[in-house]
Amino acid sequence: MLGTERLSHLLCLPIWFCCALRCIDGLENGLAQTPPMGWMPFERFQCTVDCIHFPRDCISESLFKRTADLLVSEGYAAVGFQYLIIDDCWMERIRDPSTQKLLSDRKRFPSGMSALSRYIHGRGLKFGIYHDVGQQTCMFRGPGARGHFELDAQTFADWGADYVKLDGCYATESERNRGYPAFGKAMNRTGRRMVYSCSWPFYTEKPDYRLIAKHCNLWRFAEDITDSYTSVFRIMELYRRNQELLLAHAGPGRWNDPDMLVLGNFRLSYDASRLQLAIWSVIAAPLIMTNDLETVRPEIKELLQNREVIAVNQDMLGMPGKCVWASKYFQVWVRPVTPVNDLGQHSFAVAFVNRGGFDACPLCPCTFEVVLKRLGLDSLTGYYVVDLFNSSRNMGMFKPNDAFNTRINPEGVTFYKFTVAPVY
Ligand code: GLA
Repeated sequence: MLGTERLSHLLCLPIWFCCALRCIDGLENGLAQTPPMGWMPFERFQCTVDCIHFPRDCISESLFKRTADLLVSEGYAAVGFQYLIIDDCWMERIRDPSTQKLLSDRKRFPSGMSALSRYIHGRGLKFGIYHDVGQQTCMFRGPGARGHFELDAQTFADWGADYVKLDGCYATESERNRGYPAFGKAMNRTGRRMVYSCSWPFYTEKPDYRLIAKHCNLWRFAEDITDSYTSVFRIMELYRRNQELLLAHAGPGRWNDPDMLVLGNFRLSYDASRLQLAIWSVIAAPLIMTNDLETVRPEIKELLQNREVIAVNQDMLGMPGKCVWASKYFQVWVRPVTPVNDLGQHSFAVAFVNRGGFDACPLCPCTFEVVLKRLGLDSLTGYYVVDLFNSSRNMGMFKPNDAFNTRINPEGVTFYKFTVAPVY
């Protein structure tokens, strides 16, 4: 008996050893079970370091304190925007000569990072910080992590960071391929759980998403976003062309990152703002705003705080959606969401996109009609439909063979929740 027991223990050993290795090997920090939501300055404030001429816009502790206050007082934190993430241009140009630690810019961050982190935590928010895997940060404003992974990860942990964005500038391909997993492991070894945002695939010709998803909580797959419909649409197209690959590796704890929400700035129309929010929710993208929260127009603030749309983005099934139908002028994007009925059939969030273009339809907005089963909505129990941008607009019950009509503004979207009916 004893012999058999010992034998079975021995047989289990390799399995246990593999499991242990696997735990140590991947990120598996249990974070980002839904896409992270927060704020980051880069697209809106770039690398403004001249606080004399641009005191409101420069990358400084006053910008982050102001934003922390506004995230709370303006109601963004209450709907889920909790990560306040510092992007590039926060560092001194060189490390501390005696300790080799990273230093924050003394003039723009006079109280230091620990104090700023405490301020952010004091508002009930989470604190994120930017770094680079290579020799220098992308704006060439400070040293990258090369040669200092353990020290830098520990510095961030000591500062109370909850999120690290690791960029990939000034590094070779092989350095990135070794560096991203290694920095994640260094983060794990600190014992502090930090969301790990990797820019790895963006710098890689043929990204290995299986590997990336194993080591990162989110990953930038697209170029830097700019404040325009063209940029938003270009990123949507990039996703659409690669969606099967991108979808396959995303889920709770690991998300595709198409870059920040540019809503609330200068160039997105109201319709294009709705479009970005809807598609970012369908593809389960992190919702990281980049804007000046003091000047966001009320109608855009209302969009950003639309709880129904955010619920789609944060849906607990964790299944990202995709484009299921496309023509020259229209696209339909679909995401399976909760609730699921007793037959295991999902509800869906469905975004109807009008790409615009003056020849799309001479009379704008355009009417689009489709039979639901063509979109994969095939539950015979039917679906209750609500307009997500106007939740008081209940559209009624639709069956798979019914045609669904919607009028879409140019360069805009209509966005509906199709809640699957229960089985009686
Ligand atoms: C790269 C990143 C941006 C931003 C800048 C900062 O371009 O993709 O998101 O972090 O660097 O320099």
